[in-house]
Amino acid sequence: MVSLIELENLSKVYEGESEPVHALRSVSLTISEGDYVAVTGPSGSGKSTLLNIIGGLDTPSSGKCVVAGRNLPALGDYELTRFRRTFVGFVFQAFNLISDMTLVDNVALPLYYAGVTKRERTERAVQALQSVGLAKRARAYPSSLSGGEQQRVAIARAIVHNPKLLLADEPTGNVDSATQDRILGIFDSINTSGRTIVVVTHNPVVAEKARRVVQIIDGVIASCSGPLPSL
Ligand SMILES: Nc1ncnc2c1ncn2[C@@H]1O[C@H](COP(=O)(O)OP(=O)(O)OP(=O)(O)O)[C@@H](O)[C@H]1O
Ligand SMILES: [Mg+2]
Repeated sequence: MVSLIELENLSKVYEGESEPVHALRSVSLTISEGDYVAVTGPSGSGKSTLLNIIGGLDTPSSGKCVVAGRNLPALGDYELTRFRRTFVGFVFQAFNLISDMTLVDNVALPLYYAGVTKRERTERAVQALQSVGLAKRARAYPSSLSGGEQQRVAIARAIVHNPKLLLADEPTGNVDSATQDRILGIFDSINTSGRTIVVVTHNPVVAEKARRVVQIIDGVIASCSGPLPSL
């Protein structure tokens, strides 16, 4: 199996107000291409920090973090931005849609940054909306949608540029259980299409859908199902 993510002795220390906060302590983990991993653990244990570092939104204090063959800590800002735009789709608990843009324009945004022509952007954005069951609403604005529908639009936006890796931080935290099931179904088909998913969740129902569960407690991997890292 080809590994997509290789973390070795990854640590993150934040400068706290009085003393440093050790958000991650020497985390080692390998995630293969096509895998579906849930990251669980108590609040403040370092889950979002881990996800943000894997996605190039935050930088580790020390250790190795190779994603899609790129050693992220060695990349400059420009290359890191390119890495994110090419390889990663993010879904957050807050949907973060732009309120004065239609759904299709929201979803097309990553393609705009990738320099794709307007016509192709629209075509692909409508396709992505189709895959989350919202193509009919393409010309609507986010405020006319329910929270669950907005999250589905956010998922369409995260996959429109066909990234290898989908990172989701509490994606079902703000939706009802029927929408949660629908989102899990969408994740399943995204994973079946070959994309790797890492999802942070407090919810055992969400974690259960993944192939592997990594539990983080106090910045350390406390348990990890599936293949262990080869160190
Ligand atoms: N920018 C920051 N500056 C200082 N400390 C931070 C920063 N970001 C996170 N931390 C601290 O790092 C630790 C890990 O935070 P993180 O957000 O990764 O936790 P989490 O597991 O995602 O928690 P939750 O389940 O509540 O979202 C926490 O103690 C947090 O207060
Ligand atoms: Mg978090």
